[in-house]
Amino acid sequence: MAFDPTAFDASAWRRHEVRQPSALLHAVPKRQAEFLTGRIAARQAIARLGLAASIPGIGASREPRWQNGVAGSITHVHGLAAAVAVAASNINGIGIDVERIVDAATRDALRGTVVTTDEYALLKTACSRFDADLLLTTVFSAKESFFKGAFATVGRYFEFEAARLSSLDADTGRLQLTLTQTLHPTLPEGRVFTIGFRMLAADTVVTSFIW
Ligand SMILES: CC(C)(COP(=O)(O)OP(=O)(O)OC[C@H]1O[C@@H](n2cnc3c(N)ncnc32)[C@H](O)[C@@H]1OP(=O)(O)O)[C@@H](O)C(=O)NCCC(=O)NCCS
Repeated sequence: MAFDPTAFDASAWRRHEVRQPSALLHAVPKRQAEFLTGRIAARQAIARLGLAASIPGIGASREPRWQNGVAGSITHVHGLAAAVAVAASNINGIGIDVERIVDAATRDALRGTVVTTDEYALLKTACSRFDADLLLTTVFSAKESFFKGAFATVGRYFEFEAARLSSLDADTGRLQLTLTQTLHPTLPEGRVFTIGFRMLAADTVVTSFIW
């Protein structure tokens, strides 16, 4: 769902029948707009499962709290919000993430925190079709999708080094992350997960993870 943060006004909460969380009472309009649009998208995604949809709450670590029987994920970036919802009985977790391609300053920061030298070298081997900044953004987004989808199971924050890029196929839009540490008995060191990715626009990538 597209939204215009500059056009946001407080009446939007009432118009869309979403209760404004107390944590957002003093948030800047952009934050209110992205949260609200993400929640509206979530409500629609739940309704598409054929359920009476309620707006997900906010957990202690900012994770969305989905109604019983539903698992999902929310993302937003620069005027775009998206949500996905699935029947919780079918899966362990799901995560989605949308990112704009990084600029030069962000690239340097990501190279120091999100990927190791080895991961960056692997990523560069896939650069014949896509440039390195796009692929770096994709790996960053993939790790965030993984984090969102694994968080409910792991139950705590974990760093980017917990999952290592082990393959990337730009043609099929699939990459693999291998766990470098045991995050949970069902998420042991060495387990490999596939993350999907594709371009939403020339400068925007979306990744998704389900397990
Ligand atoms: C939590 C995090 C992944 C959010 O990603 P982001 O790119 O900053 O923001 P996005 O717009 O894509 O997503 C934000 C949404 O993620 C969801 N989210 C936030 N924390 C979450 C959590 N712990 N678990 C699941 N979903 C979470 C929320 O719905 C949030 O939107 P809302 O606050 O409006 O409800 C990111 O801020 C973060 O902390 N990353 C570091 C942890 C990490 O990725 N480790 C790597 C492991 S390999």
